Amino acid sequence: MQISFEVRTASTVEEKGILVLGAFDGAALFARTSDINSKTQGQIERAIVASTFKGKKDEVLSISAPHGLDYAQIILVGVGKTSEATLIGMEELGAKVFAAVSRSTHDTLTLDLPELPLADEGLARFISGIELRAWAFNKYKTKDADKPKGPSIVRVLVDSKDVIETAFKRLHAVNEGNFLTRLVVSEPPNVLYPESMAAIAHELTPLGLTVEVLNESKMKELGMNALLGVGQGSIRESQLIIIQWNGGKKGDAPLAVVGKGVTFDSGGISIKPSTNMEDMKYDMGGSGVVIGLMKALALRGAKANVVGVMGMVENMPSGSAQRPADIVTAMSGQTIEVINTDAEGRLVLADALWYTQDRFKPTAIVDLATLTGAITIAIGYEYAGLFSNNDILSQNLIEAGAVVGELLWRFPLGKAYDRDIDSDVADMKNVGSGRGAGSIIAAQFLQRFVNNVPWAHLDIAGMAWDKKDKPLTGKGATGYGVRLLDAFIEQHYEK
Ligand code: BES
Ligand code: MN
Ligand code: ZN
Repeated sequence: MQISFEVRTASTVEEKGILVLGAFDGAALFARTSDINSKTQGQIERAIVASTFKGKKDEVLSISAPHGLDYAQIILVGVGKTSEATLIGMEELGAKVFAAVSRSTHDTLTLDLPELPLADEGLARFISGIELRAWAFNKYKTKDADKPKGPSIVRVLVDSKDVIETAFKRLHAVNEGNFLTRLVVSEPPNVLYPESMAAIAHELTPLGLTVEVLNESKMKELGMNALLGVGQGSIRESQLIIIQWNGGKKGDAPLAVVGKGVTFDSGGISIKPSTNMEDMKYDMGGSGVVIGLMKALALRGAKANVVGVMGMVENMPSGSAQRPADIVTAMSGQTIEVINTDAEGRLVLADALWYTQDRFKPTAIVDLATLTGAITIAIGYEYAGLFSNNDILSQNLIEAGAVVGELLWRFPLGKAYDRDIDSDVADMKNVGSGRGAGSIIAAQFLQRFVNNVPWAHLDIAGMAWDKKDKPLTGKGATGYGVRLLDAFIEQHYEK
């Protein structure tokens, strides 16, 4: 999508394509909309009268072939009451407008919205919403007709360019990160597997990121048998990918972000039912957030030290696959009885988390994982689950999420839950004995590998992918987490 800003003058040329105008609650036209209404000899007002349009937020009215203008179509968007305007609301509004024209054959969208609430930041968010909504995964569709694309050029008419350009540039960098996340999450598992993810990570080095990859023999040397056990049934080699961004003070301990990267989770020998098994291509969603976040931080030149660690494996059943009853010794030295090979994410994270705290001595660790189906039973598809050993870290993450509309809800941890994973034959087992609190039990397991570092675990199993239609990102991969962690880093690591 090509986005450009143009100072509005008396001689501003009208492009062909679609013009976006605004109205407040009560169908009160923006002054600018009123001017254009006069040029159309009142066609906009007549269209309003003939419709149900009331200017409420997210209402959209389409007017074709406006009289006296070169534009082929006007989209009049309701912004609601100025007093109720929020930045996220503006972003959703932009997304709404794009959704309304996403099947249009017109190439150009011209925005003429000088009175949009919340000034330049509001307009920047509106454009960001257009961009977020416009991203689509259709690289495997060979027929153009099957690829609804909508406008690919956005022209923004403004009074002056500097402030809006800077504001949008910041948002755009993070959106680019979000797009990378959505791309890797959307790719099928025959294309996206541990080594291909490592190749994608390597492509980021020109942005100033340092990328390292540990292969199986290196991980074996380090004793990462929990992670390696999960991948041992697959013909794909497991990989630990480490991406560093050092935009902060030299020598300052980093923030660490760790992602579960199961590129396909068949369940292994504890194989999953075939219904919806295809969903398990997005079981690398946590690692997808890590790679997208690292790209975003580099693109916007974040003034912070951040290390991203991605534990990449494929969980497959085969003659060489791990068995239920196997006991593995993790890098930490703790032994784990594998009761269920489908509780694999925690095994991968056990070593990835331990390695991260051991090598980098981070100030805090945030991990992201599509860890449990149970989290969606608990809380559905509106919040990710937050589990943490630290109240301040939790609060900061919840607040950062609220700013960008990526919501978190904190769940409890505690000794009684922890006891449930004690094993009769090893230090622990990888599932609890009871049926309840599956997401908490999984988090308790992870906590045994973080060694008292301030730590937060985000269970994004319900958030990485949307089967319905999220306002900002539509169906499919959401990139949930990139914007949240970017905001968190800006608020707490760049002061
Ligand atoms: N990858 C799944 C969790 C998942 C489910 C993610 C649905 C996204 C959507 C995870 O590895 C898993 O299989 N968890 C099991 C744990 C159980 C065996 C203790 C689950 O949730 O059933
Ligand atoms: Mn599983
Ligand atoms: Zn899994």
